[in-house]
Amino acid sequence: MPGAASWGSVPRLAFGGDYNPDQWDRDVWREDVRLMQRAGVNLVSLGIFSWSWIEPDQDRFDFSGMDEVIALLHEGGVSVDLATPSASPPPWFSEEYPDAQFVDHLGRSLGHGSRQGFCPSSPDYRRRAGVVADRLARRYGEHPAVVMWHVGNEIGGYNTHCHCPTSAEAFRSWLRARHGDLDGLNRAWGTAFWSQRYSAWSQVRIPGATPGRTNPAQQLDYYRFASDEVLACYRTERDILHLHSPGRPVTTNFMAGSFKWADYCAWGPEVDLVTNDHYLVAADPEAHTGLAFSADLSRGIAAGRPWLLMEHSTSAVQWQPRNTAKRPGEMLRNSLAHIARGSDGACFFQWRQSDSGVEKWHSAMVPQGGESTRIWQEVVRLGAVLRRIGEVAGSTVTGEVAMLWDYENYWALEMGGRPSVDLEYATEAEAWHRAVWQQGVVCDVIPSDVSADVLSRYRLVLLPSHYLATPGTVRALTAYVHDGGHLLVGPFSGLVDRDDRLHPGPHPGALRDLLGLTVDEFLPLREGAALTLDNGLTGRVWAEAVHPDGTDGAVVDARFADGPAAGGPALLRHSAGAGLARYAATRFEDSSLRALIAGALDEAGVGSTAPGAGDGVEVVRRTAEDGRSWLFVLNHTDDTVEVACGGVELLSNTTITGRLTVGAGDVAVVRESGSPDAS
Ligand code: GAL
Repeated sequence: MPGAASWGSVPRLAFGGDYNPDQWDRDVWREDVRLMQRAGVNLVSLGIFSWSWIEPDQDRFDFSGMDEVIALLHEGGVSVDLATPSASPPPWFSEEYPDAQFVDHLGRSLGHGSRQGFCPSSPDYRRRAGVVADRLARRYGEHPAVVMWHVGNEIGGYNTHCHCPTSAEAFRSWLRARHGDLDGLNRAWGTAFWSQRYSAWSQVRIPGATPGRTNPAQQLDYYRFASDEVLACYRTERDILHLHSPGRPVTTNFMAGSFKWADYCAWGPEVDLVTNDHYLVAADPEAHTGLAFSADLSRGIAAGRPWLLMEHSTSAVQWQPRNTAKRPGEMLRNSLAHIARGSDGACFFQWRQSDSGVEKWHSAMVPQGGESTRIWQEVVRLGAVLRRIGEVAGSTVTGEVAMLWDYENYWALEMGGRPSVDLEYATEAEAWHRAVWQQGVVCDVIPSDVSADVLSRYRLVLLPSHYLATPGTVRALTAYVHDGGHLLVGPFSGLVDRDDRLHPGPHPGALRDLLGLTVDEFLPLREGAALTLDNGLTGRVWAEAVHPDGTDGAVVDARFADGPAAGGPALLRHSAGAGLARYAATRFEDSSLRALIAGALDEAGVGSTAPGAGDGVEVVRRTAEDGRSWLFVLNHTDDTVEVACGGVELLSNTTITGRLTVGAGDVAVVRESGSPDAS
């Protein structure tokens, strides 16, 4: 998989954004290129929603505008990440192929007038998307300006779960391949419950509206199928692009951390370069920790290699309830936070603010007010900063702590019919990740389908609420702990297999031996209720009646002081082989979670990246194969801070000997002493 650094002979960080010239008259295009040069833009994602521009009617193609724009960009030295426009079929497509429209879970066919209004399983959709990809690839596949391909946009974002007859038929074929015959399906789905035994394939439906709850194993299979179907749309186009544009990486932009329905862990190996979109949650004053989670997950999906931030925003978005603007300096900090965590660039939605349509109140690199605006000034500064730190392109980031992440768990834990709706998969994972972030430690977020060999690189592995446990993951974790690793497991873990069937024996079936304990009962709390442990930590949402298993079992570190499990164990540890497996039987309040994680880090021998890191001071190291390393220091606080390090600070070109001072909200990138080339 080529990293972004392989786009040219000189390593560089990508800088640019989505470019939609079809929204503008020709005279704006030249001005755009002038401004791109002014800001140092070197990459644009071109024509993501341009289907009706280049194919205004079925099989009538007009590439004159696209030809001109690509030539202008090329002349201006701006490389092109050329998009296939398959995210938004034009109105002629809906008129021509009414059966290809997206159908929701109530059976309503949703019309065009937005985007992604198609059924991902529709052969007509895939054929027409393939035709336009083919025309683009043949025309521009060898064009010197085109350095990368961008398939569709945030594939599946609105339309993963289509309920039309074509999808139902495709689901049945997928099930046949997975389960073989109806006996296999009946067994896997546990259809003896509520008399759901199937006697013919024609009876098998996509889970849609039903009077009561739907079979959970059926739901899980549908989610897997749906993720595979949208991935298949990508693969169809990717293969066409590879054929006519060999050597150019093909990607599609993920939404790691914020989108639930695409199994990006399975998608990662399908793209030549992992690219990600990230938008801050405006309501969260600590949204930069969510950013770090998304970036760390992107890196995990990319198996540790460099990835690329394809979209973020220069300031406010327009789709949240309250769209707060970024404060001065925040966009630079956000951009460098992604780059610190392995992105080989910082790109935006979008280049020029639209003057019409749904997203005209969304910020852009060129705001409506043009060059006099604060945002434009900050864009120009960012371009200059990225040129100064371009040497980091291609280097990588490695944490000493890993958190396992798994989309099937995300789906399974939150399907309903569980002890409490208040225990949520992603919320829990992000809370644990945030607690690590607050200690100034980097946490790799990696797919749970992992080998013991990969785990052996980490001092501490986190497994928050891992409800669905596969034999492979359990084997890897067991070997890791026996070899001396430290593991911390959250509540409601290790309970079911991939068909949502309880693992045999007492809970937690799959992790009982490793944890040395048995859970007799889950005891969730009433909404808003809290509980206390005898060591002073406080929890919410959840308690369990748990006990150590025999004399070789876990030992109790702390007990519930009150709540439904009062007097019983709340925190346990089990020495297994040379390592340690710890279990937490509640969902901790933030400050308590922080204390718990701090203790686990300490015990595993993990310290912060540099003295001064933590408490709002983000410090991350990138390392190159030749031994050079860079320390990214991002001060999210309102005070001046100091971090201990030495080398050359690249933004100011000053030598740092032992102590780096970073102003409130400011950033620094230090090429560390000892690095080859360090002065
Ligand atoms: C992304 C999407 C872009 C734009 C942006 C607005 O999710 O890919 O096309 O809609 O959001 O924030």
